[in-house]
Amino acid sequence: MNPPAVKVKSTLAYLRKLFIMPDSPDKFIEFGHELLEMIHDFFQEKGGIHSSITLPELSRIFEQTAVPDEPVLIKDVLAEIRSKIIDHSVKVGSPYYIGHMTSAIPYFMILLEMIIAALNQNQVKIETAKASSFVERELVSWLHRLVFGRTDAFYKRHVQNPKVALGNVTSDGSLANLTALLVAREKAFPPDGIFPGLRMAGVEAAMRHYGYGRAVILVSTRGHYSIKKAAGVLGMGEENVLNIPVDANNRMDVRKLRLRVRRLCRPEEKTRIIAIVGIAGTTETGNVDELHKLGEICRETGAHFHVDACWGGAAMLVDEYRPLFKGIERADSVAVDAHKLLYCPMTMGLVLFRSEKDLQLIRHSSQYVIRRNSVDTGRFTIEGSRPFACLKPWASLKIIGKEGYGLLFRQARKLTGNLKDILDNCGNFETLNVPELFILTYRFIPERVREQLAAWGEALPDTDDKTSVKDMDRKIRKINRLINGLNVKLHKALRRDDTTFVSRTTLESTRYAPQNIVVLRAVLVNPLTSMQTLKEIVSTQNRIGLQLWRDFEPAYERMLKG
Ligand SMILES: Cc1ncc(COP(=O)(O)O)c(C=O)c1O
Repeated sequence: MNPPAVKVKSTLAYLRKLFIMPDSPDKFIEFGHELLEMIHDFFQEKGGIHSSITLPELSRIFEQTAVPDEPVLIKDVLAEIRSKIIDHSVKVGSPYYIGHMTSAIPYFMILLEMIIAALNQNQVKIETAKASSFVERELVSWLHRLVFGRTDAFYKRHVQNPKVALGNVTSDGSLANLTALLVAREKAFPPDGIFPGLRMAGVEAAMRHYGYGRAVILVSTRGHYSIKKAAGVLGMGEENVLNIPVDANNRMDVRKLRLRVRRLCRPEEKTRIIAIVGIAGTTETGNVDELHKLGEICRETGAHFHVDACWGGAAMLVDEYRPLFKGIERADSVAVDAHKLLYCPMTMGLVLFRSEKDLQLIRHSSQYVIRRNSVDTGRFTIEGSRPFACLKPWASLKIIGKEGYGLLFRQARKLTGNLKDILDNCGNFETLNVPELFILTYRFIPERVREQLAAWGEALPDTDDKTSVKDMDRKIRKINRLINGLNVKLHKALRRDDTTFVSRTTLESTRYAPQNIVVLRAVLVNPLTSMQTLKEIVSTQNRIGLQLWRDFEPAYERMLKG
């Protein structure tokens, strides 16, 4: 419990001291130290990953419904932040936390965040962001070159050419995808004679003018939900995001894509394919679509080719990963998140356009900010005010460097392989995807059940008797449903145990396709995670899994017989 906060008599002199750093350097540094120590303690603290407080208890801490009346001292608010917030924050940097893309960050990022806050630059316009605008353009150029590899002359001409933008820094990957699809939509319905283009006339008029009944975006069933959100926001309709099934390796099934495209292009369909979205690092499984094949289909159909590389894009920094991204250089746009594989703290996305002309399609201006002939970055962005977030990847690409990222990714790949080996050797687990970018999906399944399913699975193709095929198939499905229930319970029990963390999803693309299989999902990017950590994580899951299995076993025995 914190001592009661000291009430402060607000005077303008007191408030000015809160603002004007030159007058109060001692306090600034004093609180700075305190703050850093508080953060340091958070990292040193042992105990649960999510803290033991329940959600209802947390809601009782934060149930004050009106703005506080009286000001209190900074030190009291810091104490409150410590006890009410930091103590109950999720330790996403813990080596035992291997469930999400949000993970450990290098300590220098905290210092960079301080610089970002202290400078308080607003990237929207040069009057509020001088050097930082140039940093942003430089970073965009680095990543543009990494992805598209255009000529030296191209980058020399455009790196600091304010008339064009090669990409936008966005607040996150969702906005990066939205920006790409906005551009794709404008390209699909451009001005034509007296028709001023979709941007001016709206969706309905654009469809009428071009004689279409529908406009669609194609992405695999592994597509991130931000693609659907974007379609909704853009007035295209979420139902017009068409999901193409994936193959056994969670990559868009190119044959099915071709068939779907062929059908959609029949004149009677009156359908415009705005964009085909390839994924370079699927959220659930970390797999990469065959981008070169998707690119070919885009060129044949005139669809915009967008690659959602929010998760995997940064792996392109390292030569050994580049073959995975074959064909990305022919994309029209690519989205990458810095707060994922670039190890930056929340949040910063980036969308890059192959052509320097594309962002002109969404260019805006106004009289009081981003004037038409200004050099303001905000002319090309959906967002208005934006922080100097690009400082984080800009600095880390220097501090960690390509070589350092190479080491981090190699370690991530090693950890992914280690986890797979530990699970395979344990016997009570089944791994369910072939990891490409550090994400492994698997489930708990007692050894004898796994072996039984495998035996039936192997027997199925050789069995001529239709009745026994049906019977085996029915049993496999029933048992899988039982194991799904077991894994949901296991995941909840692991959350209660709170010493380790993996996430959970449901996949239709495992070896049991098309049956939905509940899987545990591990994202192995924390360089502080070790082989020993992984052994402990699996041992905890195995112990709890076996305890829970006791309640499921009788049902399994009945299924075997029935
Ligand atoms: C493939 C992919 N695309 C887009 C996003 C959305 O990114 P953000 O959460 O930064 O908006 C994610 C997030 O996990 C992702 O994995």
